[in-house]
Amino acid sequence: MNWRKLFKPSSRYSVSTLVAVGVVIGVVGYFAMQQTLHATSTDEFCMTCHSNHSLKDEVLASAHGNNRAGVVVQCQQCHIAQEPFNYLVKKIVVSKDIWGYLTIDGFNTQEWLEANRKEQADLALAYLKRIDSSTCQNCHNQVTQEAPEAMKTMAARMHAANYKKEPDQRRTCVDCHKGVAHPYPKG
Ligand code: HEC
Ligand code: HEC
Ligand code: HEC
Ligand code: HEC
Repeated sequence: MNWRKLFKPSSRYSVSTLVAVGVVIGVVGYFAMQQTLHATSTDEFCMTCHSNHSLKDEVLASAHGNNRAGVVVQCQQCHIAQEPFNYLVKKIVVSKDIWGYLTIDGFNTQEWLEANRKEQADLALAYLKRIDSSTCQNCHNQVTQEAPEAMKTMAARMHAANYKKEPDQRRTCVDCHKGVAHPYPKG
């Protein structure tokens, strides 16, 4: 192998061919990474670090785990924006949790969760506000459209009034709906 040749501009392939190959590799790499990220997004993955927290039981006891439709909503369906870019950003933030997991004294205990519930809840809410509760809207898209017959009049009226406002005046789902999966601490 002649190393010098490797770094010389290719005479055999045109620049555009090399660029095209680069793009293909980039796209394939991107999707491969998406696959890996999705594999790390099961409830089991979340519970590896949160295993001593009552979070999963709370979901199962809520309307999001115990409903007529028989649907159990997964952690990431609420907590991680599904749009690829936001997904990646959140994943990088979650990877910081590895540091927290290793350094926060007593993190994976129910006592820690109860003592820090309010602060943690507000961090989770701040993220959902940043993404305009897009995860909620993925499932509850009828809220922003015409309300279905089955929806309570009061709910339909609140939602309609909110969506009549200018986008920057609107409230987002979690401004009005707290504690939909875990008990939101009072005070
Ligand atoms: C590597 C361990 C680890 C894994 C895996 C993990 N977490 Fe966490 N999580 C933590 C730690 C540590 C904290 C506390 C972070 C802090 O306050 O510094 C935390 C906090 C949170 C919070 C509240 C704070 C915030 O920023 O929103 C939510 C919500 C959360 N995790 C959800 C999840 C979900 C959903 C998954 C699965 C996709 C998950 N976690 C996987 C370690 C982990
Ligand atoms: C994967 C789909 C899915 C996601 C994501 C989701 N929901 Fe739901 N939601 C449901 C289902 C299913 C029910 C139960 C409906 C029933 O009982 O008929 C429900 C019920 C509700 C209810 C009525 C019951 C109650 O607890 O008062 C509210 C309010 C609600 N969701 C808000 C939210 C908010 C806010 C978010 C985002 C943080 C969210 N949902 C995310 C599927 C989802
Ligand atoms: C301005 C406050 C407000 C906002 C913003 C809001 N809601 Fe509601 N929502 C309500 C009220 C009030 C009710 C009726 C009381 C209740 O069920 O909690 C309701 C009820 C609901 C219900 C139950 C409806 C039924 O079938 O009876 C769901 C599901 C729901 N909201 C989802 C959402 C989602 C998703 C968003 C964001 C796209 C959202 N809401 C934004 C105030 C709001
Ligand atoms: C239906 C949507 C939904 C599901 C499903 C859900 N969460 Fe949450 N989670 C929230 C919201 C919204 C908050 C912000 C606080 C609040 O409103 O209760 C939150 C808060 C949290 C917090 C901060 C502490 C707290 O109790 O507020 C942690 C940690 C967390 N979730 C982890 C998880 C894990 C792990 C799972 C899966 C077992 C899960 N969540 C499933 C919506 C959800």
